[in-house]
Parts: sequence; structure tokens; C-alpha cells
Amino acid sequence: MTRTRSETTLPACYAIVLPGLEEIAGDEIASRGEVKKTSRGVVVFRLDEIDRRLLTLRTTEDVFLLAWGTDSLTYRATDLESIERWTAKVDWPHLLRIHHTIRPRPTGKPTYRLVTQMEGKHGYLRRDAGKALARGLAGVFPDSWKPVEENASIEVWLTIDQATAVCGLRLSDADMRHRTYKHEHQPASLRPTVAAAMVWLARARAGEVFADPMCGAGTILAEQLVCDSRVCVIGGDIERSAVRMTRSNLSRLGDPLLNHWDARRLPLAPRSVDHVVSNPPFGKQLSSPTQIGPLYRAIAREYDRVLRPGGQAILLVSDAEALREAVEPFGWKVKKRTRVLVLGQMAQLSVWRKPA
Ligand SMILES: C[S@@+](CC[C@H](N)C(=O)[O-])C[C@H]1O[C@@H](n2cnc3c(N)ncnc32)[C@H](O)[C@@H]1O
Repeated sequence: MTRTRSETTLPACYAIVLPGLEEIAGDEIASRGEVKKTSRGVVVFRLDEIDRRLLTLRTTEDVFLLAWGTDSLTYRATDLESIERWTAKVDWPHLLRIHHTIRPRPTGKPTYRLVTQMEGKHGYLRRDAGKALARGLAGVFPDSWKPVEENASIEVWLTIDQATAVCGLRLSDADMRHRTYKHEHQPASLRPTVAAAMVWLARARAGEVFADPMCGAGTILAEQLVCDSRVCVIGGDIERSAVRMTRSNLSRLGDPLLNHWDARRLPLAPRSVDHVVSNPPFGKQLSSPTQIGPLYRAIAREYDRVLRPGGQAILLVSDAEALREAVEPFGWKVKKRTRVLVLGQMAQLSVWRKPA
């Protein structure tokens, strides 16, 4: 069932995204509704209809119905009274009704879970904020509902980052961030939402050629196939085990061309690729960080050879300066750069265009 804004007052929604992806996620959300506000790791938005389509966003880690939000936490203990008061004022039955249209009420005894996340130096502990949230929710869940630590039918989250806080009912589950196609993992594998952000930036069209020459477990290729399987998807890796893993992860998504190859000498014709979308190994994944410069120079030369004039490269790297130096001889123009936290380290996501 779909709830529309004209039928009833619909609450705002918010998404939790990886820091650095706010603008890209905001762009994806804006294609479906109105972005109201963006702060570190959070995008608040409104939709005319709230239904299961919300769960098909690709660049967001989780989506919620907004109960309340603020930008003016004081860092002092009085925040705890505010959290309790704001939570108590929410029309929870209304939010729960909308929640049940997306995630049907489970049969049997319902369960619930309260989650509190906190970043910043506040004069209270995360646990205290969680207790304030629980006090504000007093009486909302019948005594027969059981609090659990995971797989709850209802989750209320409170996310605090410095002076900003959002509180809401979680609509997504783990499938939004982990996906269902990823049976096989390798340690350096990307989070699917980061791969989806790269695919979103590429905007490949039907019939165009999209290549990830260092595909690892195939996350970027998978995200492209989910987004539009009419694109011609090509991938490969120097490790046979990675190619096998990619084949298994992509088995239900489409029909990509997969190869065991060296990205420094691709078996592809010159000017045959529209989009190279890839994340080469980070320094810590190589036997020596000094290998980064030569590797980036070799792949930049090869990507320039296979890209058609006007084609683009979307690259996620740990060493932005080494990449800039590597692509300099080819006159590629940078269209976008953003920093994003990947595998616990800052990385740079950049979009380059080969001159037409
Ligand atoms: C950071 S991982 C890519 C992860 C991938 N995006 C994913 O989500 O699973 C880098 C990959 O580059 C591969 N690689 C390293 N050197 C290569 C080369 N010269 N040619 C092709 N692949 C290479 C590694 O085997 C590794 O799988």
C-alpha cells in the first residue's frame, strides 16, 4: 500500500550515508523527491509517496521515517531532557502505521530495538542518550513487545553527530547496505553503496561499454548491472580467484564479459570503452607503497588507450596525488573530486574526462 502526501500528512524521511557520499546520495534522492537538508552522513528529504520503492535507493546505507531532528544540541546534559521531550512528542502510532505499509507487521510477538549512535565530545555518554530515548518512548511499545539486540521488527534509531541529531523509524534492513548478490567477499572489496555512487556518477547508457579492469569481487560491475543491464559490462582481475568470485556474485544479474587479465595490458581495442570505473589497490594492499606510482602510471596509460575520446574514468584511490601525476600526460580533465571514508581510510573519488 502506498501513502501519498495529499491523503495524509507524510513525515519527512532521512537516509544515513557514508561520509563523503552526501552529495551523490542527495542527487540520487532528488531524482525521486525533494532534498531538504544535508549534514555529515545524513540526507533529509520528502517524498510525495512513501512505499517500498524507497528501499531501492542504491547510494544510501539505511533509510528512516523522521521522528525529529535538530542542529542545536548543546553538548551539555540538558540535551538528554531535550531528547526525551522531543521523542515523547512524536506521533509514533502514525509513524508505525506508515512503517507497516513498507515492512508488514510480523506475525507472532513483535520485537523492537533501540539504536543510539554518537560522534563528538558531548558532556554525556552514548548510553545516557540511549536511556533518554527509551524514556521518551515510554508507553509506545506494548509490554507484550520484546526488546531484542538484532533482527527486530521495529527499530528506532538516534544518530548524534556533534550538534546534529536525527531520530526515526528504520525502514530498510541489512539488505540495503549489504545487498543480496554478494555471496563472495574479498578483504579489499568495496561497500556496495560506494560502488553504486561510482555507477551513479558514470551514468552509462544502454549500449555503452563500461569496464572495471581491477574488479576484485565485482561490486562495481554488479551495481552497474542492477542499475541498467543493457549496458555492456566488462571486467577482469589479475587474480584468477577474483574473476571466479565476480562470476559467482554476478551470476543472477546479467551477462558480463569477464577475463583473467593484467590491467596494464588490456586485451581491448583502442577507443573501445566509454567508461572505466574502478578502484585500484590501495597502498596498504600492495607489497610496498612505492609500487603505487608505477602501477597508477601504467594503468593510466592503458585506460587512456582503451577509452574513446570524450570517455570518462571514475576512479577511487588512496593516493590522489599519485593519480593526478599519472593522468597528467594524457590531458584528462577532472570533473569532480570528493573524499570518502573507505575501509577505515580516507580515499578520493574522482571523475575524469578524456579530451574529445
Ligand atoms: C581494491 S581491489 C578492487 C575491489 C573491487 N572494487 C571490489 O569491490 O571487490 C583491487 C583489485 O585489483 C586487482 N589488481 C591488482 N593489480 C592488478 C592488475 N595489474 N591488473 C588487474 N587487476 C589487478 C587485485 O587483485 C584486486 O582484486
